[in-house]
Amino acid sequence: MSHTRIPYENLKLLNRSFEDGFKNKFNNFLDSGWYILGNEVAEFEREFAEYHNEKFVVGVANGLDALILSLKCCNFKKGDEVIVPSNTYIASILSILQCDLIPVFVEPKLDTYNIDPEKINEAITSKTAAIMVVHLYGQCCEMTPILSIAKEHNLKIIEDCAQAHGAKYKNQLAGTFGEFGCFSFYPTKNLGALGDAGAIICKSEEHYTKLRQLRNYGSEKKYHNGIIGYNSRLDEVQAAFLRIKLPHLNDINNHKRKLAKIYQDNLSNTYIKPVLNEDYENVYHIYNIRHNKRDDLKSFLAENNIDTEIHYPVAPHKQKALLNLNNLSYPISEEIHSTTLSLPCSFAHTEADIYFVIETLNKFNC
Ligand SMILES: Cc1ncc(COP(=O)(O)O)c(C=O)c1O
Repeated sequence: MSHTRIPYENLKLLNRSFEDGFKNKFNNFLDSGWYILGNEVAEFEREFAEYHNEKFVVGVANGLDALILSLKCCNFKKGDEVIVPSNTYIASILSILQCDLIPVFVEPKLDTYNIDPEKINEAITSKTAAIMVVHLYGQCCEMTPILSIAKEHNLKIIEDCAQAHGAKYKNQLAGTFGEFGCFSFYPTKNLGALGDAGAIICKSEEHYTKLRQLRNYGSEKKYHNGIIGYNSRLDEVQAAFLRIKLPHLNDINNHKRKLAKIYQDNLSNTYIKPVLNEDYENVYHIYNIRHNKRDDLKSFLAENNIDTEIHYPVAPHKQKALLNLNNLSYPISEEIHSTTLSLPCSFAHTEADIYFVIETLNKFNC
């Protein structure tokens, strides 16, 4: 008898336990007649700051804008360089390009999929202005050496935390290491809205004031524009929904950790699994494995009613949009892109779902 299909993600199911809260929030929102930058945004910013034990959070329209506004806030010069991992999602790189800066790729480590601190030094030039770390798949980068490199060379650190809500390194939360911690609340994220949304944690009041201006046409007071800004406000209704889910972020993360542990303990060693290390509290935004016959494996799972994803099928420097970078070579990144497979590991999945995936994976004749 065939098993019911296991989707990679099921947003409706994922959000089911929050539906009553969303409906109440929506009714209040409708009654309030206040749709932009109201109390819900202000309270969400306060609560997200409190979760991180930080003072300054600015809600913005999405994760890409969180990165762009953070870079804009730094007043870098056109042509300055920003170090970024060669295997990140395209958004990190687009943010750099859209600020007229130059992305300088540094390879990740093959066992963590995160930027290799030892390779950062080799990439630093007189034009390097910042390091954009990306806490990929839900695991923090190795921040101790990265922070000391940044200090030594006077570089800003911008953290791309789109996949790392609540992740920790040496007991410290992602988003609290650098000058800016940039979050996406895209619906599939561990803390996901019901549409696009994002936020930035920043360290100084000066940056906080500037980011609030940048997201709102450069305006410090209505119709008074001190700087060239954008329209990138966190939507009021999304902030209201995020306030319902934020108190449950740790439960969501714990559920994903529990599922990941089942994979770790039961999956055959023919698969390369995430390497665990006690310095890291991974929140498994993505639970990935690697296998040389990844595409065959993906098809085999699909034939057995299991949906998977690939994060990501094409390395950024091989994307058509980045044509001038296509001749570069990043073998570690390319190895990851050609072998990685993301398995179902959502708040909406049950332990039984995961055992079925494992049972099927362990039957794959490779
Ligand atoms: C690593 C990374 N950075 C940035 C982003 C951009 O976030 P958004 O889609 O909210 O703009 C994403 C989202 O998918 C991401 O995974």
